[in-house]
Amino acid sequence: MRSEALLLYFTLLQFAGAGFPEDSEPISISHGNYTKQYPVFVGHKPGRNATQRHKLDIQLIVIMNRTLYVAARDHIYTIEMDTSHTEEIYFSKKLTWKSRQNDVDTCRMKGKHKDECHNFIKVLLKRNDDILFICGTNAFNPACRSYKMETLEYLDEEISGMARCPYDAKHANVALFADGKLYSATVTDFLAIDAVIYRSLGDNPTLRTVKHDSKWLKEPYFIQAVDYGDFIYFFYREIAVEYNSIGKVVFPRVAQVCKNDMGGSQRVLEKQWTSFLKARLNCSVPGDSHFYFNILQAVTDVIHINGHDVVLATFSTPYNSIPGSAVCAYDMTDIANVFTGRFKEQKSPDSTWTPVPDERVPKPRPGCCAGSASLERYVTSTDFPDDTLNFIKTHPLMDEAVPAIVNRPWFLRTMVRYRLTKIAVDTAAGPYHNHTVVFLGSEKGIVLKFLARIGNSGFLNDSLFLEEMDIYNPEKCNYDGVEDKRIVGMYLDKHSSSLYVAFSTCVIRVPFGRCERHGKCKKTCVASRDPYCVYLKEGGTCTQLEPGSRVAFEQDIEHGNTEGLGDCQNSFVALND
Ligand SMILES: *[C@@H]1O[C@H](CO)[C@@H](O)[C@H](O)[C@H]1NC(C)=O
Ligand SMILES: *[C@@H]1O[C@H](CO)[C@@H](O)[C@H](O)[C@H]1NC(C)=O
Ligand SMILES: *[C@@H]1O[C@H](CO)[C@@H](O)[C@H](O)[C@H]1NC(C)=O
Repeated sequence: MRSEALLLYFTLLQFAGAGFPEDSEPISISHGNYTKQYPVFVGHKPGRNATQRHKLDIQLIVIMNRTLYVAARDHIYTIEMDTSHTEEIYFSKKLTWKSRQNDVDTCRMKGKHKDECHNFIKVLLKRNDDILFICGTNAFNPACRSYKMETLEYLDEEISGMARCPYDAKHANVALFADGKLYSATVTDFLAIDAVIYRSLGDNPTLRTVKHDSKWLKEPYFIQAVDYGDFIYFFYREIAVEYNSIGKVVFPRVAQVCKNDMGGSQRVLEKQWTSFLKARLNCSVPGDSHFYFNILQAVTDVIHINGHDVVLATFSTPYNSIPGSAVCAYDMTDIANVFTGRFKEQKSPDSTWTPVPDERVPKPRPGCCAGSASLERYVTSTDFPDDTLNFIKTHPLMDEAVPAIVNRPWFLRTMVRYRLTKIAVDTAAGPYHNHTVVFLGSEKGIVLKFLARIGNSGFLNDSLFLEEMDIYNPEKCNYDGVEDKRIVGMYLDKHSSSLYVAFSTCVIRVPFGRCERHGKCKKTCVASRDPYCVYLKEGGTCTQLEPGSRVAFEQDIEHGNTEGLGDCQNSFVALND
């Protein structure tokens, strides 16, 4: 293991010789002794003392309608965003949903530890303006319920969580509502063998991926689902079925399904997707031989930058090798193009996978949405001929991989002890809302902040490393002597100009900028090149500009030019303490 790690390390260094980019350094670093001032949520209600604390096991956080929802073990907490917090963040409402005793008993009988036989909330969605839709593992018997949005009152509506929510809190899943239908990707059984991309609720037939077919899904780990145009896209990683030479290799994927898919005919693919297509995502460093980052960790929603619809994704090296991470950006147009390209197939069980020649692809083209421009004859997918349906059933994989914008990572981090696992993007940063700032979260409580720059030679090909911050607060977040620094969720709140960072035991509110550290020093304020920090002409202090503020200020994001701004000993808080 150790020598394997070293080998990879030297491979990376070799790449370095051949132009593997070196890690850049942040303009500013904030350690825990500075960030410990930030307000923390640990499960308290106002007026209660720390003794009241219990194990949170936070699974996810989401902000809806100025409310932060913290989905944890047996509970969901809501925090009103517009109440000000100084040291601690308190919840205003708490929803409790525990597993019934008989479910817990069955869970224990099946050999699970009592800590696993809780109800871990894994799905929390707004179904409509009035209804909050929640699914939990429910002691390995997943279930979903509806609650009143405003009051968190239970609407006495419980349905099975099978194929909507995992059995085990450790399993990754995604879910979203589009046009009143629930799209979910998870495993459907106790042993986590049957993975599924599933559509249910609403008035259309329930659809799923083909069961136990490794061509469709092979031990997937689901990361993200987005609603875009006529499609729902799923981002995940899985064992690469097309890469069968040596052992198991994990590839990052994007899959698409048509929102109007009604399933196949009674003969082929009945109640299964007719539009499921998947492709590899390429996040690699070019060189004599490409170095691939294959472990997809997080994907943003579709964001709009410089006239393009893109997603940004973080990738890492495998967990049994040295840490290394990359951020790649993908244009939604490039994703769509790959799905109109060639299919990939394996002619016999031991042969290599090759592209399918165009003349062997049936018409209408398999995987297309029924009723679309060239397919008007086929009003719904159940009308597709058997040839088309049989082809897509056996050929869901595309030959080409989706290229990253400018064919290389937008950012690399290789010489550090942690992997980058989370991402959040502000596409309207700075006083004119015309900068893009990317926050990256890691397994070690570190958050990195970047300015995405539009270089001369292309789009999204340059980054400026603004800040590295150690966010984890051991004093407040350690529970029972245990320190878990993995970031489980990050969410931006533009109104309060802050980033909410969730760990399993706490949520911390981190302001977008640490402008106050520069005090009255214009030089370091301008040199920070931070879109969130401005030097006020009146008063002469460095400060985070409030949204909508109209005061006169100085800032130089492009160049950080400090010529003639003088020195300022003693007038600012030392930055790298
Ligand atoms: C909370 O704890 C502090 C000291 O830790 C104590 O001074 C205070 O009286 C306690 N408050 C309540 C409401 O128990
Ligand atoms: C959002 O929250 C406000 C204040 O709590 C409430 O009046 C409003 O009805 C909420 N809107 C939705 C769509 O839930
Ligand atoms: C943002 O807008 C300001 C004011 O209009 C302009 O001076 C600046 O060049 C813009 N920056 C970018 C990166 O577009």
